[in-house]
Amino acid sequence: MKVLGIESTAHTFGVSIIDNKKVLSNHKAVYTTEQGGMIPYEVSEHHYDNFMRIIKESLKKAGISLSEIELISFSQSPGIGNTLRVGAVVARSLAVNLNIPIIGVNHCIAHLEIGNMVFPECKDPVLLYVSGANTQIIAFEANRYRIFGETLDMGVGNFIDSFARYIGLGFPGGPKIEKLASQSKNYIKIPYCVKGMDVNFGGILTNLKQKYKKKTYKTEDLCYSLQETIFAMLTEVSERAMAHCSKNELLLGGGVACNKRLQEMCEIMCKQRGAKLYVPENQFLVDNPAMIAWLGFIKYRSGIRQKIEDTKIQPYLRTDEVEVIWR
Ligand code: ATP
Ligand code: FE2
Repeated sequence: MKVLGIESTAHTFGVSIIDNKKVLSNHKAVYTTEQGGMIPYEVSEHHYDNFMRIIKESLKKAGISLSEIELISFSQSPGIGNTLRVGAVVARSLAVNLNIPIIGVNHCIAHLEIGNMVFPECKDPVLLYVSGANTQIIAFEANRYRIFGETLDMGVGNFIDSFARYIGLGFPGGPKIEKLASQSKNYIKIPYCVKGMDVNFGGILTNLKQKYKKKTYKTEDLCYSLQETIFAMLTEVSERAMAHCSKNELLLGGGVACNKRLQEMCEIMCKQRGAKLYVPENQFLVDNPAMIAWLGFIKYRSGIRQKIEDTKIQPYLRTDEVEVIWR
């Protein structure tokens, strides 16, 4: 079955074509800035300016025509209202005009489900989902994807990007901080904030900003200490969730999971527990339309159908509110 998936929860407008398990294209336009963060209105304008081009280029890459598409899938929740709406409107127009079914999916769960597409042997993992807006430890228990731990304030990516912006690096800050961190081995003590299986970053951000303002610390050392601290926090809560749920697979998802040091810490932890770490390649870690197409496909395959009037966006829908009837 040929599925066209649309991602538009935040900075990425992406269109992917899959044919069952085969990803024929995974194409996107990403809103970036040299300085400053994302303004929702501007990001949605970016998506409006780019959607037609991305659809055409994605079809071209896949080597198929629009009339061959059999199902439209789109990210219906959660995300920025302005940008979600662009994807939903495009998806509805395509489905109605082509007279084919439409399925809306939850973006966070898509990060988890793509793991099983890439690694068929990865069947029941704990997902460490670390992106800009989201930081959640998710696992399937009692018929739902439950959130076992999460950030109590900002997402880890937003935290990294905020500090990066503060020290004059552009958006996204993650890769730039990673590069600076790799030039140091000098750990400076900063707060470590784990509460049970939850984490929070606000206090660490304030502390880092104060240290940076003093001008007595090297920027590389601050970036190194930032990474060592927050990735240790995330590894700790992942391990606790794995122990709590008796699961022996850890799957990474979200843009922050591209970070090599985070991957390394998770690898060490999993090895010590006799567990297996699964890290999809970067194109499936960051926000990507292939995971949207894939989740739409497996929902449809399981018999789920959706009326066009049920395709309203759900910006605030939480992972554990989704009824999982496709597993
Ligand atoms: P979501 O909508 O799911 O919250 P998102 O819109 O933030 O996701 P992603 O592509 O999943 O999008 O993640 C982007 C985040 O990943 C940014 O905050 C960025 O700084 C961070 N990031 C990207 N690469 C790295 C890296 N190498 N190290 C740390 N963080 C990274
Ligand atoms: Fe995401």
